[in-house]
Parts: sequence; structure tokens; C-alpha cells
Amino acid sequence: MPAGKTLHSTIDPSVSSFFETRLSESRTLFERALQVVPGGVYGHTSPAAGLPGVFPYFAESAEGCRFTDVDGNQYLDFMCGFGPIVLGYRNPEVEAAAAAAKEKGNLYNMPSRGFVELAERIVERVDFADWAVFAKNGSDVTTWALQVAREATGRKKVLQLKGAYHGVDAWCAPGFGGIIEEDRVHIHRFEWNKIDSLIGMLDSLKDQVAAVFVTPYHHPTFSPSEMPVDGFLTKVQSECNRRGIVMILDDIRAGFRLHSGGSHRCFDFEPDIACYCKAIGNGFPISAAVGRDSLKTAAAKVFLTGSYWNNADAMAAAATCIDILERDQIPARIESMGNRLCRGLTEAAASHGYRMICSGPRAAPYPFFDDDRNLRKIQEFCGKAIRKGAFFHPHHNWFLSAAHDEPAIDEAVAIADECLAEMAATREES
Ligand SMILES: Cc1ncc(COP(=O)(O)O)c(C=O)c1O
Repeated sequence: MPAGKTLHSTIDPSVSSFFETRLSESRTLFERALQVVPGGVYGHTSPAAGLPGVFPYFAESAEGCRFTDVDGNQYLDFMCGFGPIVLGYRNPEVEAAAAAAKEKGNLYNMPSRGFVELAERIVERVDFADWAVFAKNGSDVTTWALQVAREATGRKKVLQLKGAYHGVDAWCAPGFGGIIEEDRVHIHRFEWNKIDSLIGMLDSLKDQVAAVFVTPYHHPTFSPSEMPVDGFLTKVQSECNRRGIVMILDDIRAGFRLHSGGSHRCFDFEPDIACYCKAIGNGFPISAAVGRDSLKTAAAKVFLTGSYWNNADAMAAAATCIDILERDQIPARIESMGNRLCRGLTEAAASHGYRMICSGPRAAPYPFFDDDRNLRKIQEFCGKAIRKGAFFHPHHNWFLSAAHDEPAIDEAVAIADECLAEMAATREES
């Protein structure tokens, strides 16, 4: 099949002229990718997960809170690489620390000094942690944490929240391709903010449950985020403690962005293990799991390794990033910019007759329109915004970084206001 034909099948014809002019290099690269990569681009960065034919498909460079696509268009960014960029793209201190480590060699036959220093740093920073391990991606550590819980308890069952995402491994991947029934036979799902749903499940599974996975707030895919109701996570913790179950906090999306000691500090609970990834290395590939002393023996028995997991540059980047988060009180700054953004968006929407709600924490808001069941309004809004130079995502929570200052937020709100005015004008015409 000719490449162009394959490509056009994914694109709404009404937007194709924009695509062909302002995004022509993105289009060419995507056509080439389709020939040699299954699906062209896959996962959360695939065009189908955003706005096909409207969002650029490939990036060229980035700095601070802006990125440039392969056609040279620049955008004010509100996705931060889907989370990892917490200090802003190419933060000079993090880049310098990573470059200094890399200069000496980067990957050796054994870990470098930075490995121990980073473990010490994280254990010091996260209040309940007595140990830490490192990997590359979030999925590496969520799956490993599940195994540690099974090793520690000698039990098989694992509970997770309905709609929660914990990575790409067979026990939790959102898709069904290549998954067999047995992969998930011991995985059960309870409901967010409904402690009775958890207790009922724990009662019926009796002494078989090894782990309960939670997130600090609920961030289901393609849906608004939900904060915990008072006492929910505390009750999950006490049920786990009472029954000898390992409580695992998947803090990959929010950890160190909401609080420089882990997001559990914003709520009233302490897990047994926490998993971190986005926001600890400012874009350098690194993830971490931390845990309590009582799980250290079990943790030592669960094999954990990867060819690149000891790279010194990512360790140095993470140590520097974690220090800056604390030193400059970045989570508070990001929250205040998030407040400014959310207030600006909701006021602009109201002034044009729309109700926009910013769900979730201000550092990673999930904005949506009231009464938008088929998601048309948010898609139209984000489609207009990208043409005016702001990258807002219609189906995923947004992320703010320390590089988003007041002028950047005000620029984003002004763009949002223009988009809403145009939407209101077409609504009135029709
Ligand atoms: C809450 C949560 N858990 C786990 C993961 C998986 O992380 P990774 O994509 O780095 O494997 C993600 C990724 O978005 C996530 O948001």
C-alpha cells in the first residue's frame, strides 16, 4: 500500500490542509515510520492517542517550557514529555551533573559511586523509606514491587484500582494484545474512594492477598482525575496493616512533583513500598522503588537488573534534580502556577459560556468541559490551541514544570481565551 494512503486513513480530511502545510515534515517522517515501525508511532505518543493530523508527530528540540517540532513550529508546552520534565527542558544544573558523570565513562561492569549517593539521598528524603532500588521505567519498578510483596507474604493475589495504569507488563497493561487469561488470574480490582469495595474484596479473598496498589489520587486514562476523600487512603493503609498485606504506592505520575518527599506527604497515609519515575531525573531515564526495613530481605531476593540500569549520568541527573526540588521548593512553585492556570482557564471558559473544570492536583491538572460526553469540546479546544502555539492534551492530564512562570501561564490563558471565543462564535452561528 502506498505510504500516503495509509497515513490519510488516520487523518480527518478537514484538518489535512493544516497538516500538509505546517506539519509536512511530521507527515513525511510518519510515512517513513509506517514502513518500518508497526503502527508508525506507538503507545501514549501515537497520533491516535492525541489529535491525529493536528498534533505534530515528531519533536526536534526543547528548552524551558517550550518545544519545537520537526517543521520548526514552536509550542508552549503543557505535557512536559508526559511528566518527566519537572524543572523545565534542559535544566542547566541537571544537564551539567549528567554530563560530568558521563564524561568519566557512564556504563561500567559495576555501579558507580553515584548509585550509593542517590540511594542515600532518596532514603533521606522519603520519610518511611529504609532502602531504595533503581531501574529505568515505571513499569520496571511496579512489577518488581508486586514480586517483592509476593515474596514477603507468600501470597498470590494483588488488588489494584479500577481504571488505574501501572505500566506495560502483562499483569496490568491496558490492552489485551498478547495477554493470556493466566497473566491476570490473580489480579482483582476495587473502586477508588470506596473503602467498602476494598474491604469486601479482602474479606472474600481471605488470606490470599499479597499487595494492594494505590495511587495518591485517581488518574484513570481518558477521564478526569479524582482526589481522595478524607480518610480513604488512611483506611486502605490500616486494612493492609491489619491483614499483613503490602501497600504499594504507585507514585510514578505524581511523585516528587506534588511534594519533594513523595506525594503521600500531601495525603494522610504511608505505604510500605513506593514507586517513582517521572519527575526524579528531569528527563534522564531512571525510576526508583523505596520501601520499609521489614521488606528489605524479601526485596534482596527478587532479581532486579537491566543492561543500562546503572548508567551514571541518569543517577547524577536524579541526585541533582531531587536536590533542586527541595532547595528551590519547586512543588510549591508549580502548584501556584497550576492555580494561576486553572483559575485563568475556568474564568475564560465562563466568560464564553462554557463550564471548564480542572480536576486533579494543580501541578498535573486534567481539564475537561462539563457536558462533553463524546469529548468533542475538549478536542476542538486543544485542536485550536495547538494552531495558536499551545500544546494542551485532550485525553491525558497536563503537567506543569518549574519553567512555567507567570508570563508563560498568562500566555497560555490568553490562547485559551481566543480558542474559547472562536468556539463560542461557531456555537452561536449553528
Ligand atoms: C501511574 C503510572 N504508573 C506506571 C506507569 C508506567 O511507567 P513507564 O511508562 O515509565 O513504564 C505510568 C506511566 O505513565 C504511570 O503514569
